[in-house]
Amino acid sequence: MAQCILIGFMGSGKTTVGRLMAETTHTPHLDLDELIVAQSGQSINQIFAAHGEAYFRDLESQVLRSAMQAEGILSTGGGTPVREENRKILVQSGIPVIFLKASPEVIRARLKEVSDRPLLRKLSAQQFVHLHEEREAYYAQAADLTVITDHRKPAGIVREILSRAELLESKRK
Ligand code: S3P
Repeated sequence: MAQCILIGFMGSGKTTVGRLMAETTHTPHLDLDELIVAQSGQSINQIFAAHGEAYFRDLESQVLRSAMQAEGILSTGGGTPVREENRKILVQSGIPVIFLKASPEVIRARLKEVSDRPLLRKLSAQQFVHLHEEREAYYAQAADLTVITDHRKPAGIVREILSRAELLESKRK
């Protein structure tokens, strides 16, 4: 069973922090997007282009269910907690859910050069801020712990998560 789940908006640091946390705690790292790509044999861009978002979301829920059974630190996709079914899986798992929170300005700057986030392509600055705000409500609903990642190095974020591990342990009991 997964030991810890990271949630948050695209560019909030889920994959980077998850990898480092896994390395630090000698645990495997599971990345939901990578698992989806491996299972489908297509990139995220290709899945969206060929089958549409609804198909991607179904695949995401399916892969989430199996990833929850595997051992490791699980980095989810930015849209994973939006679906109620997925939030239930996260919340009812008894596994600590950590929300990596980053401001829209920092996220926009981090994602400026990336081309593998199909959802961002068509958004205006205003729509981006709106989506970010809407999503944060879902992340907050699912999270046991919120950690701000703006202007911070991954190592400091991992240290903070691990230092608050007692709270996480108590969730499991
Ligand atoms: C998405 C986030 C992406 C990926 C897909 C959709 C979203 O993952 O799952 O492009 O809806 O926010 P990251 O959060 O890892 O970028």
